[in-house]
Amino acid sequence: MKVAVVGRGNVGGGLADLWERAGHEVTRIGREGGNVSDAEAMVVAVPGDAVADALDNVQGIEQKTVIDATNLWGVDPPAGFSSNAEFVKSRTNGPTAKSFNLNFAALYDRIGEADSTPSNLWCGDEEAREVVEQLNRDAGYEPVYAGPLENAAAQENFLKLMFGINQGGMGQFFYRIAPPNQL
Ligand SMILES: NC(=O)c1ccc[n+]([C@@H]2O[C@H](COP(=O)([O-])OP(=O)(O)OC[C@H]3O[C@@H](n4cnc5c(N)ncnc54)[C@H](OP(=O)(O)O)[C@@H]3O)[C@@H](O)[C@H]2O)c1
Repeated sequence: MKVAVVGRGNVGGGLADLWERAGHEVTRIGREGGNVSDAEAMVVAVPGDAVADALDNVQGIEQKTVIDATNLWGVDPPAGFSSNAEFVKSRTNGPTAKSFNLNFAALYDRIGEADSTPSNLWCGDEEAREVVEQLNRDAGYEPVYAGPLENAAAQENFLKLMFGINQGGMGQFFYRIAPPNQL
């Protein structure tokens, strides 16, 4: 699959590495922007308050199938939207999914060490299912459908619960690879 990843950091760069190893053709896009016309899927992996700026610099996003991996830590979604994922869809008008926002990038290289395949939630449009589920499996995760795109706000807010559980010392029940103090 041809995948364009916007954001070259822990998440964008890390997922790009995993997908290239799985045989996908990945284009990595940074602040300079780029054109995603050729891509079958675009992944957004920039800071939660940089989504609008990032998309402004990317051409060819119309009708694109998108996976939004961003989180909103201490910031709100763009005005008028309950989630970043729904904002992204308003810019692309294409199939949209929220995924990869609840797995730590620091563990990407250790997914294979898990005693069973780690799950990864996704919610979003049915038209995005094939792409988001394949890219989950090819990164090493078992995709778990979490409902339509209107659930994206709940999935973004779930991060607060994950951090709370982590701080309470029970994170190993989520991560199943290493206790949080080893992340
Ligand atoms: N880290 C995790 O474990 C994790 C897990 C799940 C979800 N997330 C979420 O995923 C997103 C990315 O996290 P991260 O850890 O990968 O962050 P990061 O390592 O800081 O990487 C962010 C990337 O976005 C780029 N960027 C910033 N503003 C941009 C813009 N206007 N246009 C294009 N690119 C821009 C940065 O470019 P520069 O290098 O030039 O600054 C950088 O390459 C965040 O929303 C985060 O909350 C993180």
